[in-house]
Amino acid sequence: MSKGWESWTEQDVANFQTEFLTWYQQEKRNLPWRYNHDPYRIWISEIMLQQTRVDTVIDYFYRFMEQFPTIQDLANAPEDKLLKVWEGLGYYSRARNLQAAAKQIMEEFGGQFPTTVEEIRSLKGIGPYTAGAISSIAFEIPEPAIDGNVMRVVSRLFCIEADIAKASSRNIFDEAMRKIISQDQPGDFNQAMMDLGSSICTPTSPQCELCPIQNYCQAYRKNRQTAFPIKSKKQKPKDVYYVAGIIENRQQEIFLQQRPETGLLANMWLFPLEEISPSRFKELQEQYDPNDWDLFSSTLVAEDSPDFFPEQEIVWQKKVLGEVKHVFSHLRWHILVFYGRSAEMLTLDGQWVKPKDFPQYVFPKPQQKMLEVFENNLADDKD
Ligand code: ADE
Repeated sequence: MSKGWESWTEQDVANFQTEFLTWYQQEKRNLPWRYNHDPYRIWISEIMLQQTRVDTVIDYFYRFMEQFPTIQDLANAPEDKLLKVWEGLGYYSRARNLQAAAKQIMEEFGGQFPTTVEEIRSLKGIGPYTAGAISSIAFEIPEPAIDGNVMRVVSRLFCIEADIAKASSRNIFDEAMRKIISQDQPGDFNQAMMDLGSSICTPTSPQCELCPIQNYCQAYRKNRQTAFPIKSKKQKPKDVYYVAGIIENRQQEIFLQQRPETGLLANMWLFPLEEISPSRFKELQEQYDPNDWDLFSSTLVAEDSPDFFPEQEIVWQKKVLGEVKHVFSHLRWHILVFYGRSAEMLTLDGQWVKPKDFPQYVFPKPQQKMLEVFENNLADDKD
């Protein structure tokens, strides 16, 4: 397969860089991690931005920097405080890896952020993309930072047919980027790529008429923009079904359980969940209608309760509150949320907590969604 960038002369590359960097200077967004070249700030922002949109990250970034202004603060932070700041951003292993890497920096690099690509790459949670972003933006090392957006831009620029879902394709994009990256301003160059990918060279309807590098784009010339990137389908997330119980005792406390120390949503707090089969889920969905308030008044008897927490003494079960869906990268949770009253006899591991104290607990996104369903119901149910 011919490589589209091999036909570019040095002059082509120089012209391309000038036009692209000029556009970036004019158009770049004023983002808080762009105020200076502090590697700590850039690192935190890049980790946050890995799976989260810029607009969402901005507030989290400010709060994180306020709570943990230095690498040392991050290294010494209690885990629950760290997770609290990360609450709602998802992919919590990112936060844990950040702390592990901060400890590494304290121990192995004397508290100074490392300055070479290899050393940066040796930090926990930092792969080639993040190492490229930090080394180019903080230290002006001409190292490509290749993520999905950049692969899209580059695949269009050179009509690269390699499947971007395959790890083995990375080398091709790396080679193309090394040919075109600015040696003097690699940080700006990489960020120009990111900005172009997120604002103009978008997946389904790129705005080629606004593109600063339209003249160089081989896909545009052939009117094949949307044929790139080539991407094989990834596996769909697996559906998992749960019932959740928002269980209240006579003191108006609600029962919360902490997830195990490892695995998905490690150490975070949720209403108790019980996995059920897809067919049982469907049955319950049909049986319990969240709009049907009267049916689930306090007359409901224990035998009618769904099979959740069968060991527990649910004195009376009030109603189904609604349904919550949450998609992780590999799983799709479907949760039917019930509200019930319990004698204080739950033998499950967990804690009874007053709702006013919920802010002290770290709640992952699905828990926040369940809580929202609960609060919305309270608002229109004042019995
Ligand atoms: N996405 C990932 N890194 C980014 C950055 N530094 N600026 C804007 N968007 C990004």
